[in-house]
Amino acid sequence: MSIRWSHGDLAARPLGLTCQHGAVPAPLTSPPPLVLGIETSCDETGVGLVRGTTLLADAIASSVDEHARFGGVVPEVASRAHLEAMVPTIQRSCTTAGVRLDDVDAVAVTSGPGLVGALLVGVAAAKALAVSLSRPVYGVNHLAAHVAVDQLEHGPLPEPCLALLVSGGHSSLLLVDDVTGDVTALGATIDDAAGEAFDKVARLLGLPFPGGPHIDRVARDGDRVAIDFPRGLTRGRDLERHRFDFSFSGLKTAVARWVEARQQTGEPVPVADVAASFQEAVCDVLSTKAVAACRAYGVRHLLVGGGVAANSRLRALTEQRAAAAGVAVRVPRPALCTDNGAMVAALGAELVARGRPPSALDLPVDSSMPVTAVVA
Ligand code: KG4
Ligand code: ZN
Repeated sequence: MSIRWSHGDLAARPLGLTCQHGAVPAPLTSPPPLVLGIETSCDETGVGLVRGTTLLADAIASSVDEHARFGGVVPEVASRAHLEAMVPTIQRSCTTAGVRLDDVDAVAVTSGPGLVGALLVGVAAAKALAVSLSRPVYGVNHLAAHVAVDQLEHGPLPEPCLALLVSGGHSSLLLVDDVTGDVTALGATIDDAAGEAFDKVARLLGLPFPGGPHIDRVARDGDRVAIDFPRGLTRGRDLERHRFDFSFSGLKTAVARWVEARQQTGEPVPVADVAASFQEAVCDVLSTKAVAACRAYGVRHLLVGGGVAANSRLRALTEQRAAAAGVAVRVPRPALCTDNGAMVAALGAELVARGRPPSALDLPVDSSMPVTAVVA
């Protein structure tokens, strides 16, 4: 990729050096701006530092353990945890990257979608940094950031590409023509998110929270065709009306009924088979619809992101089906798939590189920010 970046609205930084012979001319090329990204849309306080497409630091503090006994994220608990973690996480990120706050050229922050109280903590922190450092602030869309993060691992994003984002909070199919400004939502879940379904089914199988990794592990010893669980929105009128949408709440109920029926007869619940069959139903629908969308829109690159992208069966099935359709799959490493600050910094760096204008200093949070709005 040609490195595209402009100072734009960034504060001008002196580039000339001095030595004993006097001023040394500034180098013809200077490094791309340093962007600090803040993520607080759910239960992870993430602060990333990115220069161009190079990841320098990705510090994370998670409040997941505080939510475990509730079986899901409690918004107020998450907000308070963000408040406590914010300053230490910023400091940790700077220390890891070996930079000072004053070295930062621009600040990016998730301004939506997400939990409103949690978002407010991140946006307030970003504004405070922007004002105190006199740097621009970019309020960015969390979903677009999940897409942009892949650049840090696999290089420039092929555009157009299709993105399947699956996590505890969202399940979306996006057509990405320009990650900084032209993202179209092709479909989303109409009820539970994919990760939420993993977490709920894990709970009824007696597995810990968050349940996705446990189902993934337990399913390895199970038979994925043991139980024919329903595939939501994949047939007849449902499919016609919701071609690229998902539904997992019927599947979750079907698993609950199957387990209850088994318990009523006093037979043991074959946890591995239930986990494998449930996982197969989710991964079958996700991979089928993602590849179908690639075909429908003539797109040859599919990116899978979000916490559920760490699922071994989803990765394998998607690879297999995409390959058969001539579609190349990119999946960031698991630490970049789950919520983090690096993804926000990655999108911020790309916005700077493409000369996009920053947000106003009074930028709001938007808990249901549409993906068509990449910058607030
Ligand atoms: O992206 P993420 O960290 O946070 C949200 O934005 O929600 O995703 C967390 C979700 C949880 O629901 C978790 O159970 C799920 O990702 N998850 C998995 C796996 N690892 C994490 N689901 C299935 N298989 C996995 N290996
Ligand atoms: Zn996310």
